Amino acid sequence: MRISGWQVTLAALSGVYGQEAYSPPKYPSPWANGEGDWAIAYQKAVQFVSQLNLAEKVNLTTGTGWQLGQCVGETGSVPRLNFRGLCLQDGPLGIRFADYISAFPAGINVGATWDRKLSYLRGKAMGEESRDKGIDVLLGPSAGPLGRFPDGGRNWEGYSPDPVLSGILMAETIKGIQDEGIIATAKHYLLNEQEQFRQGSEDGFEVADAISANVDDKTLHELYLWPFADAVRAGVVSIMCSYNQINNSYGCGNSYLLNYVLKEELGFQGFVMSDWGAHHSGVGSAMAGLDMSMPGDITFDSGTSFWGTNLTVAVLNGTVPQWRVDDMAVRILSTFYKVGRDQVQIPVNFDSWTRDTEGPLHFVVNETWTKINDHVDVRRDHAKIARQVAAASAVLLKNVDGALPLTGKERFVGVFGEDAGSNPLGPNGCPDRGCDNGTLAMGWGSGTADFPYLITPEQAIGAEVVKNGGVFAAITSGGAIKESKDVARQADTCLVFGNADSGEGYISVDGNGGDRNNLTLWQNAEAIIDAVASECNNTIVVLHSVGPVVVEDWVEHPNITAVLWAGLPGQESGNALVDVLYGKVNPGGKTPFTWGKSRKDWGNEIVRTPNNGAGAPQDNFSDGIFIDYRHFDQADLTPRWEFGFGLSYTTFKFSDLTVEPINAPPYTPTQGHTKHAPTFGRTDGKPSDFVFPEDEIRRIPLFVYPYLNSTDLEESANDPDYGLPTEDYVPEGALDSSPQPLHPAGGAPGGNPRLYDPVARVSVTVTNTGNVAGDEVPQVYVSLGGPDDAPKVLRGFDRITLQPGESKRWTVELTRRDVSNWDVASQNWVVTEHPKRVFVGNSSRNLPLQAPLNLSIQ
Ligand code: NOJ
Repeated sequence: MRISGWQVTLAALSGVYGQEAYSPPKYPSPWANGEGDWAIAYQKAVQFVSQLNLAEKVNLTTGTGWQLGQCVGETGSVPRLNFRGLCLQDGPLGIRFADYISAFPAGINVGATWDRKLSYLRGKAMGEESRDKGIDVLLGPSAGPLGRFPDGGRNWEGYSPDPVLSGILMAETIKGIQDEGIIATAKHYLLNEQEQFRQGSEDGFEVADAISANVDDKTLHELYLWPFADAVRAGVVSIMCSYNQINNSYGCGNSYLLNYVLKEELGFQGFVMSDWGAHHSGVGSAMAGLDMSMPGDITFDSGTSFWGTNLTVAVLNGTVPQWRVDDMAVRILSTFYKVGRDQVQIPVNFDSWTRDTEGPLHFVVNETWTKINDHVDVRRDHAKIARQVAAASAVLLKNVDGALPLTGKERFVGVFGEDAGSNPLGPNGCPDRGCDNGTLAMGWGSGTADFPYLITPEQAIGAEVVKNGGVFAAITSGGAIKESKDVARQADTCLVFGNADSGEGYISVDGNGGDRNNLTLWQNAEAIIDAVASECNNTIVVLHSVGPVVVEDWVEHPNITAVLWAGLPGQESGNALVDVLYGKVNPGGKTPFTWGKSRKDWGNEIVRTPNNGAGAPQDNFSDGIFIDYRHFDQADLTPRWEFGFGLSYTTFKFSDLTVEPINAPPYTPTQGHTKHAPTFGRTDGKPSDFVFPEDEIRRIPLFVYPYLNSTDLEESANDPDYGLPTEDYVPEGALDSSPQPLHPAGGAPGGNPRLYDPVARVSVTVTNTGNVAGDEVPQVYVSLGGPDDAPKVLRGFDRITLQPGESKRWTVELTRRDVSNWDVASQNWVVTEHPKRVFVGNSSRNLPLQAPLNLSIQ
């Protein structure tokens, strides 16, 4: 077994590559201390870990290898104490690789609801389903990518490029999942904004390393880190570090981001797991703050690991201090107790790699045949919540003269476009949804789930029209221009469907290698829209897309009377759409991203070809905090539809804005020191104690174990670098176990508690001025006033239901963080002297009310 480079050099650890962006080294790795509401869980974890020997501790930190267990990731177990190991399973919209589960609307749809409660309920439903399948760790939700690029492949797994909308909704999903006793994972930490080069070489381009997202500290804090701070504050217990490099240091070995920002500043008490194959060093990543290696092997099914045996070796030969491994184990176990996994844990009753009832427990080596799928139906009535989220997330973008809602009296309804129909291969016909056949209800990649069924628009609308006594024809071939025109000429109502897909980089669809190649519609939809609109003067366009598409060529066509964005609505797609089209649900969704008029309006670009020779591609985040609407506002560009926009079947009025300062205690930078790094349980142990117990365990090929292969540590490690002087690969300060100074912006999970003090109260009256009940989303934006600030940033919102004529007074409290900027020099948040303003309305460009934001705080 050859473990090449598990001891990486200091230069690589800290990212010193010539003059390129640099990630400052930050050591030692902070040890958990049970702060915030972690005290009880921490104590229980300490008690458990204190009973473990070194190999048992290591076993908790390292996955058993790709496809060597039933879940997408599994940690080792501690059979002696009846600890079975953890089952980790994707993903952000439901359980991947399982039957009888729900396929919920994607994260981007939750973003479009602007609804905390629905985000919570969807999370709770996913938690319940996970629990019943025997899953311990659900690999979601996602706020990374945040959505810097409109064409970024995985934006749809998360909520919005706005950090506040994203952070608030992500926190609710986390609470929902964890309230059901499941460990939620906030991912991908951090700056995994594009798929291309996320792991290095791509599309025939050979590069030495993964792309480096080069970001400054202010942008980091004010934009990309923000939702993760919310996640930590909401109690998320696990975080997945990302594939890419950040300032030329790998996400899962980046001491600045893991040790300093996440664990010290944000006070994260849970564990950091690597993305699958994002682990690149042994000692280096352990010192940089990684706590769990997933799936455990260096490359899938190599049988080798940076940790496992090698972590045991590293502790025995004194390279990695025991306290660091103890901290990893305590962090992992604390999360187990924190969410209550010790109260309810049922055996894993599904298998990721086959839907057959019987099969191999260790799939990739075809070993240990047994019953592996119980086909447990875990769905309950979750179809209701799936339908509710899908309907609540529909965004009405255009509606001329009340074209929508439909009345049910339409005589002839035509449905057009491939996106209205079903996939001829079945809803799950393409692995991980890696094709765009038929209607689009989720993107592709690991963030998918198998549909238990997929109600297509064609099915649901057809049933509704027939029920109403109408005539119905659906043409779902993207090539059927003539046939579409013929039917469009006869129909009084024409619904045209178009979609645009994207996904994760390991699958390429139609030449789109994860990220989209452009912002056009797929499936020849533009031609179908043109064809139908040329014949039918009531053409309603419905879009299923992973993000914005450019609509300029057709949107102003006089025959196009309405446009509705339905996003990625999941299994209940057609039903939810009928709810909205026929006015059973009044659309209240708001677009969670900006729709520009051309791709270049966004001002930034995905790095698609190597730009650093054979070295790691460099992506300088020179757009800073100016992404999405912040950029459009700053560059004074008129979008087609602005962030936060969405029509309703009724109308609303905003009035009587008041903004009052709230007295809050002064901001006090956190001071003091941590305790000394604790160790738990045995500190002794010699190599012979940890040699593979051949008499007790049958060795499964390729399985990753914590045991030594020989009492000779060098032979056991089988590392060509073994014996290098430790100064070459153990970063300075990494072994320091003495009390460490506290971070001034730290002090509790989520950061300094004073950041969350309310400092201003904004109130406004919202009135439903139309004839039907509906939901409105009041949005509060703040201008922080400085020369480097965006014209305005979203800081508060809510979704409220109003009957016709009804008024409600709505209030939101702004926190100190909401009115602060990150100050790089003091490494803290500051409220600047610049005059600030508050804007209120129902989109980022319709803000009829504004007032100065006077503060009475220090
Ligand atoms: C890689 C993806 O980036 C991550 O989101 C996922 O959870 C893992 N694979 C496991 O499937």
